[in-house]
Amino acid sequence: MSGSRLPGFYKLSVAERRALVAERSGIDLQTLSSALDSGGIDPATADKLVENVLGTYSLPFGLALNVQVNGRDRLVPMVVEEPSVIAAASNAARMVRNAGGFTAEMSEALMISQIELRGLADPDLALRRLETETEHLLSVARGAVPNLIERGGGPRSIELRRLDAGRLVLHVLVDCKDAMGANLVNSIAEAVGPEAAGISGAELGLRILSNLSDRRCAKVTCRVHPEHLRLSRPRAEAVPSDRMPAPESADGPSGSAIADGIVAASQFAEADPYRPATHNKGIMNGIDAVVIATGNDFRAVEAGAHAFAALSGRYRPLSVWRRDGQDLVGELALPLALGIVGGTLRVHPAARLALALLGVERADELALIAASVGLASNLAALRALATEGIQRGHMSLHARSVAVAAGAQGPEVEAVAGRLSEDGSITLGAAIRARSGLRGS
Ligand code: MEV
Repeated sequence: MSGSRLPGFYKLSVAERRALVAERSGIDLQTLSSALDSGGIDPATADKLVENVLGTYSLPFGLALNVQVNGRDRLVPMVVEEPSVIAAASNAARMVRNAGGFTAEMSEALMISQIELRGLADPDLALRRLETETEHLLSVARGAVPNLIERGGGPRSIELRRLDAGRLVLHVLVDCKDAMGANLVNSIAEAVGPEAAGISGAELGLRILSNLSDRRCAKVTCRVHPEHLRLSRPRAEAVPSDRMPAPESADGPSGSAIADGIVAASQFAEADPYRPATHNKGIMNGIDAVVIATGNDFRAVEAGAHAFAALSGRYRPLSVWRRDGQDLVGELALPLALGIVGGTLRVHPAARLALALLGVERADELALIAASVGLASNLAALRALATEGIQRGHMSLHARSVAVAAGAQGPEVEAVAGRLSEDGSITLGAAIRARSGLRGS
């Protein structure tokens, strides 16, 4: 075993998984356990984070396996409540690693600080005045973020756009280094705004970052050999996150037919305004889970992703799948403004643990991994949709949640879930009966 491959991980108990991951990552078992036992933060810490706190609210923290990005293996923490998301991403990541893993890069790494300038009688004149004062405005921007300048980041350039009659918008493009940068960018907007209004003779409008951070986009591509797309039988294996479909035992559609089905699913999303919302949701299943695990702002990421998807004037899928010779190739691009310093990370031990497990040293590395997991989630979803549909895999995992809700414990969970799936009746009543049957009561 090496890197992000952990065969049989799904079969282990939580304690065994922790021990194995501690050994694999070099993170002290005690640190790992104490960060995760409490769900990350206690009520006293939560009380410092937000207002009117009554307590905390935990979600499952799991690991996506098999993920290889730019030749490097990563254990990827995912925080998500939806069954099958982690298993599906791990399965798809394994298919991709067999053809070389994900290749990913950031376009640039600039955040956008927006300043709205209103009520201009002569916007063209205002625009020219602002253009001549660009250096001055940049120096005002630099003055607002001395610590960022010290870390090698800071405002890089200014862009101006005419909007409707009498209105201009000014963007300061800011390199936030390893921070997500919302506070930095907002400070810049508030410092530069009054200066820009004075120079242009405008009424000062809004001063805030744009979450459409399309100057901080991650682009990921991957390749899959069709034989790895084939389904194994039986398919209760949404659970085993690291088991590959077994081509030699597979019946059903050929790998090539599945690849064509995935391309057709992609084209459907490209042609229709309704389908891409769901297609993109499948991508965000993977991305949000990594974003949340690492203490980042998932609302900002969601807003940016969907605004980017609609940037052409029509809402589009964020990923596209095509055949390249025999292979299936996927490509995903979206804005991903993530940080590895500041914010929640200062106070959230589970978020810090997530970064340690990932072994990222720069914010852009984190974005590239999150985007890769997004493309893996998308591949898994389209593969299921192009073949037997998603319900079978979903339901077998849903059966485990129902088994837990019925009071099943330890090995009983799998046994009860297996019975529910076999009987095709995944209800609480059936789970309670199955659990009682196992216990002989
Ligand atoms: C479910 O969480 C995500 C999917 O609906 C995504 C898709 O339809 O592509 C399966």
